[in-house]
Amino acid sequence: MFESRYSEVTRRLAVEDSGAWDVHDRAREMEREGQDVILLCVGDPDFRTPEPIIDNAVSYLRVGRTHYSPALGEMKLRRAVADMETQTSPHPCSAEEVAIFPGATNALHAVMSCLLDPGDEVVIPEPMYVGYGTIMSCLMAKVIAVPLLAERDFALDLTAIKQAVNARTRVVFVNTPGNPTGSIIPRAELAELADFCRQRNVWLVCDEVYSMFSYQGRHRSLRACAAHLDNVVMVDGLSKSHAMSGWRVGWAVAPRELIQRLGNYAAATLFGCPQFIQDASAFALENDQRYVQEMREEYRQRRDLVLSELKKLDSLHCHVPRAGMFIMCDVSGSGLSGRDFSSQLLDAEGVSVVPGDAFGPSAASCVRIGLAQPRHVLGKACQRIQRFCDSL
Ligand SMILES: Cc1ncc(COP(=O)(O)O)c(C=O)c1O
Repeated sequence: MFESRYSEVTRRLAVEDSGAWDVHDRAREMEREGQDVILLCVGDPDFRTPEPIIDNAVSYLRVGRTHYSPALGEMKLRRAVADMETQTSPHPCSAEEVAIFPGATNALHAVMSCLLDPGDEVVIPEPMYVGYGTIMSCLMAKVIAVPLLAERDFALDLTAIKQAVNARTRVVFVNTPGNPTGSIIPRAELAELADFCRQRNVWLVCDEVYSMFSYQGRHRSLRACAAHLDNVVMVDGLSKSHAMSGWRVGWAVAPRELIQRLGNYAAATLFGCPQFIQDASAFALENDQRYVQEMREEYRQRRDLVLSELKKLDSLHCHVPRAGMFIMCDVSGSGLSGRDFSSQLLDAEGVSVVPGDAFGPSAASCVRIGLAQPRHVLGKACQRIQRFCDSL
């Protein structure tokens, strides 16, 4: 009789559950049963991938771009990313500083795999994107979560981050524009943090997947802000900006030596990403001005709609997001925690939002409202939220 035995990693991942998707999973179940449910949990854009990108991918499929590709990615796409970085930063970027991965999640996993040994500490501001915990858990890295203050709209606390860095710290990991908070780290703070990390011999990694959706203030990439690039890594992708979450395209921009190591890692784990998808992704980056702008404008209008509707309720306080696809709403005035609010809101009105504590204890009084729904659906959701608050 075979006795199945599994690795420690599988055990760690099985217990690693912040309960982030409990409400969402229940909402999906209710939807399957035919109930009228509005899902505001996910960060998957509701827009279709722009038609020209789809046509481009199909044309590359037809000419046979269906074979293996280099581990670090197709030169054409690496160059397109490098050109974009060169345009937005005082530092020129070459294709040799870019590695392509199937999504930012995979890029982050690969980067952290090349930087961290078990037991190394990673300093991350909290609330943080739920995907970070599982990456660190896979690698047995220790997350040192630095709380951000709701009173300061979850702005980066440079002093607290610096205090959290010690001899065991290998990486400081930030996210701007931020999920779930929608905050943007100002240029001067990113520059200071990069410089501090460099002096302390620590890597600074920045997740910038919402880079193209800023509404107030301009997003500046870590590479654009840092004076030196030898300790900085930037990760981005097309999931959000181009409504291409299912295509799985992301990248890391990093010093050449790290890129070489990422190449070895990618060769061992991925053996390349699909050619036709990379072709169409290069096309997407080179021809995206109009539709990225249109999507950004639509998200802005959705954000403004939800903010103005929920402002009418005394028991709720929304943090105004400067960027991204989410609104953090403090529900403590309702007398409920974020978790109870989200659970009861689903039961009472069929609206699913994410409890804030899924992103860390600093957001326990909040719920995260996603903007990946058309305006008329968001309007209906706000009415239901109002009715729920009135009933409390
Ligand atoms: C902050 C952040 N990083 C990374 C990701 C995942 O991006 P990708 O689809 O490119 O793996 C998400 C998705 O929600 C996110 O919010």
